[in-house]
Amino acid sequence: MSDLRRFRIGVLGSGKGSNFEAIAQACATGIVPAEVALVLSDCPDAGILARAKERGIPARYIPPGPFKTKLDDAAERAYVEALQAAAVDLVALAGFMRVLKSTLLNAFAGRIVNIHPSLLPSFPGLAAWKQALDYGVKVTGCTVHFVDAGVDSGPIIGQQIVPVLDDDTPESLHARIHAAEHELYPRCLAAIARGQVRVQGRRVTFQRAA
Ligand code: GAR
Repeated sequence: MSDLRRFRIGVLGSGKGSNFEAIAQACATGIVPAEVALVLSDCPDAGILARAKERGIPARYIPPGPFKTKLDDAAERAYVEALQAAAVDLVALAGFMRVLKSTLLNAFAGRIVNIHPSLLPSFPGLAAWKQALDYGVKVTGCTVHFVDAGVDSGPIIGQQIVPVLDDDTPESLHARIHAAEHELYPRCLAAIARGQVRVQGRRVTFQRAA
């Protein structure tokens, strides 16, 4: 067995946790050379917490404070303390429905990534699959990007295309985007964990494996 320390990922989510599941499974099978060290949620009964516990991964609800779309200062500090205590190398947002502020962004500068259910910069914000359907685009998809102080605005690491079908409903389209997310997110995390990802301004490139 290797005595090298494994790359440690902290996952934050507010929902059912299917992306967490895909990431944890890819770590378990070695596709992502990393481990999920901690799962945190702003929702006490989020599916992601139950899924993490089923896998024996430490998982905690940390109250978000009084705001709907962000964490308050004390909550951000509590998230930072938990992530630092777990010695995570990277924070992966997986359906975490709050905008991060400076306490978290500064503590993990350049080390926070997110998955978004559209081809950014199109359709940032909420229910991006519904925005795409309502707009009438013929292709949409998902994006993994670094997190900055804006909403879904940081440098793009990877994208995967999903066609919009004539008979799509918001639910059917989101289901196909979800399936694409479950491929894209582990692929991007594997490259980051292997140290292959370089960032120059807005451009993110992948170095070939040695
Ligand atoms: C995913 O589709 C993710 O892209 C989206 O929430 C869903 C979470 O699903 N995130 C956002 O919309 C963030 N702006 P999951 O809990 O099953 O992983």
